[in-house]
Amino acid sequence: MTVAKHFQHKDGVLHAENVSLVQLAHDFGTPLFVYSRQALHDAWESYRVAAQGRDVLVCYGMKANSNLAILNEFAQLGTGFDIVSGGELARVLAAKGDAHKVVFSGVGKQSWEIEAALDAGIKCFNVESEAELERIADIALKKGVKAPISLRVNPDVDAKTHPYISTGLKDNKFGVDINEAPAIYARAQQMPSLNIVGVDCHIGSQITEISPYLDALDKLIALIKQLQAQGIELSHLDIGGGLGIRYTDETPATPTDLLSAVFKALDAADLGHLQLVLEPGRSMVGNAGVLLTRVEYLKSNQDKNFAIVDAAMNDLIRPTLYDAWHDVEAVTPHQTDEVAPSYDIVGPICESGDWLAKDRALHLKQNDLLAIMSAGAYAFTMASQYNTRPRAAEVIVDGESVHLVRPREELQSLFENERLLD
Ligand code: LLP
Repeated sequence: MTVAKHFQHKDGVLHAENVSLVQLAHDFGTPLFVYSRQALHDAWESYRVAAQGRDVLVCYGMKANSNLAILNEFAQLGTGFDIVSGGELARVLAAKGDAHKVVFSGVGKQSWEIEAALDAGIKCFNVESEAELERIADIALKKGVKAPISLRVNPDVDAKTHPYISTGLKDNKFGVDINEAPAIYARAQQMPSLNIVGVDCHIGSQITEISPYLDALDKLIALIKQLQAQGIELSHLDIGGGLGIRYTDETPATPTDLLSAVFKALDAADLGHLQLVLEPGRSMVGNAGVLLTRVEYLKSNQDKNFAIVDAAMNDLIRPTLYDAWHDVEAVTPHQTDEVAPSYDIVGPICESGDWLAKDRALHLKQNDLLAIMSAGAYAFTMASQYNTRPRAAEVIVDGESVHLVRPREELQSLFENERLLD
């Protein structure tokens, strides 16, 4: 049993929905990202059901996976988008997403990005500093429009996750100190080109418990009450993304666990009328994808066995960057009673950090196919062309059908924009 429901062995071969990964490797080559359309729908459904009967806007945190086909699928299901750059805004528009359902986060918004977002008519800027607030106000004033804004506050709570993906502590660069927020809101209220619409926080990623959210929510509720006393009425509360997924044996809280607790707290505080905005990324796509790769060589030294595969840290940087665990499944496991040797699964890149998994018990032969599981989030979007490696192709499986949603990059395209000196 793999942890991902839509990637299962059938007759000894790992499938994505009803398509064999052996077939996909044959048709499209490796390394290859394979996504399940049904898994995308299921993830959306888990949020839709959790939100039923309430005013909730799911703004997909598209940095997790921004392939246009995936954005378009989510847009059709009704999501908005959490963007962090002008590039992501351009992708939303290209994927026919609704700009009115876009929230714009990020600590370093440039002027051209703010202009583009105002022109597109986004729902809200999640403002991360006073300097940014002033820049947005200036640009909106010049354009003769009102910019909708929320302050991203830093509630100083521990999300209990990896330090690189924890964002709600005082020593992180994100947001404004929650204690300073009332004064900044008061300033914003004096700026005629701003329209205060909400408050926002995002405390981290791969959060498996709801207690950090509730700690943050307590502080947000206190802030909203204080703002009400200052005569500032908000229309939405954005609690960010961050819900974790199962990579191997985690049991993360579900959207229903989270939302029922949030609604309870809001109702108790008489704030049930606020629209709730969410920015889930990983939990929408993480278990909807695998990275399919082929064993090029097996090699052993006195201490270790290595399986050198054709995917590398340029395709999936999470293991080496965060020490992240991804399950590895043999696509056609060898039937044997022998004890499986332990392998490090490594790529061809000239860095010792180029590994995808360590110490995995597997029976392997040269040319075997492996699936690196849970590779739907923060895999392709963090991929690079290091060592002049073309980025992998991406396909989406839908039942028996396969859609190539991004062909493998051509070698020529990797350097076609470069110029000789003369
Ligand atoms: N909203 C904001 C403002 C964010 O910064 C993020 C993620 C999200 C929403 C979505 O969070 P999610 O639901 O995906 O946890 N590259 C790392 C994860 C970095 C997350 C950055 N911010 C990884 O591979 O684990």
